[in-house]
Amino acid sequence: MKKMLALLMAATMVFSLAACGSKTTTSGGEEGLPKIGVTIYKYDDNFMSFVRRAIDTSAEGRAELSMNDSQNNQATQNEQVDIMISKGAKSLAINLVDPQAAPTIIAKAKAANLPVIFFNKEPEASVLKSYDKAWYVGTASAEAGIIQGQLVAEAWKVNPEWDKNGDGKMQFVLLKGEPGHPDAEARTKFAIEEITKAGIEVVELELQTGMWDSVKGKELMDAWLAKHGDSIEFVIANNDGMALGAVQSLKANGYFTGDKYVPVVGVDAIPDALEQIKEGLMLGTVLNDAKNQGKATSDLAINAALGKDPVEGTEWKLDENKAVRVPYVGITLDNISIAEEAYK
Ligand code: GAL
Ligand code: CA
Repeated sequence: MKKMLALLMAATMVFSLAACGSKTTTSGGEEGLPKIGVTIYKYDDNFMSFVRRAIDTSAEGRAELSMNDSQNNQATQNEQVDIMISKGAKSLAINLVDPQAAPTIIAKAKAANLPVIFFNKEPEASVLKSYDKAWYVGTASAEAGIIQGQLVAEAWKVNPEWDKNGDGKMQFVLLKGEPGHPDAEARTKFAIEEITKAGIEVVELELQTGMWDSVKGKELMDAWLAKHGDSIEFVIANNDGMALGAVQSLKANGYFTGDKYVPVVGVDAIPDALEQIKEGLMLGTVLNDAKNQGKATSDLAINAALGKDPVEGTEWKLDENKAVRVPYVGITLDNISIAEEAYK
C-alpha cells in the first residue's frame, strides 16, 4: 500500500511537472556510468546555454546526466531535485534559481547523503561550509568588475572626444544583472570603483536591473535615450545579453553612423557580442569561460558521484571556500581570438 502511494505520488509529481512545461532530458545512459542530476536555473539564458553544452560535452561517456530546466522557478527546481534523488542520482550539479536557496538544496542532499556541486550562482560561504559534501564551481565575481572597469578607464583616457559635454566627467548608465546575484552585485560595485580609482570622475545617470536579459536591456536603453539622449557617455552592462539589447536600441536611435557613438561594454564574451566588437558596436567585454566552468562542474560532479575527492586527477584547485574559480579575461578587438577559442 505504502509503495503504491509512493508510486502514485511520484507519478503525480512527474505529471504536474510535465503540465507546467518543465523539461528534463537524459543523456549517457550507458551501463555502469554514474547518474548525475543537473539543473540549469533557466534554459532561456544566453550564457548558461553555453555552460550547459560544456557540461554535456565533457560528461560524454563518463556519466549519465539528467538535465533539467528550472524555468527560473525555485519551487520547480526543488521538485526536480527530489525526483532526481528518487531516481538514484549519485551526485547533484545545481545552478540555483535563487542564490538564497542553497540551504534547501543542501538539506535534500544531506538527507540522501549525496554530494552537491553548485555552479554559476554562488551560495554564501557559510552555507557551503555547513555541508562537507558541498562545493562550488564559478568565478571570482569581483574580478569581472575590476577587469571591466580597467577596460573602460583605459579607453576613456585615450578617447577624450567621448566626454561629449566636456565637463571632464563620465556620465554613464549601468545595466545591472539580477539583484542579489553575487555576480551582479560585485560587477556593479567593482567596475565603478575601478574607474574611479583610475582618477576618472563619474556621474551615474541611470542604474537599473535588466535581469541579464537582452529584451529588458533594450527597453531600458530606449527609455534612457528618450530621457537623456546624447548626455549618455558610456553604457556599462553586467553581461553581454543586456549590452546587446542596448546596442540594438542605440542603433535604432541613429548611433554608430557618422560620428554618433557611445561605447558599450559587457561581460561573458558570447559569440554574438564578439560579432558586435568586430563591427565596432561594442567596445569590449570580459570572457566568462563557459567551457571551463562547464568542464569543471562535470569533473567535480563525476568524481563526487564515484566517492572520490572532487578534484582528484583534474586540473582544478579548490580555494579555502571549497570553490573552483575559473579566471576572467578582458576582451577587445586586439585579443578577440582568445574568446572565440573559449566558445568553440
Ligand atoms: C553570469 C553571466 C550572466 C548570466 C548569469 C546567470 O555569470 O554573466 O550572463 O548567465 O551568470 O546566473
Ligand atoms: Ca562628460
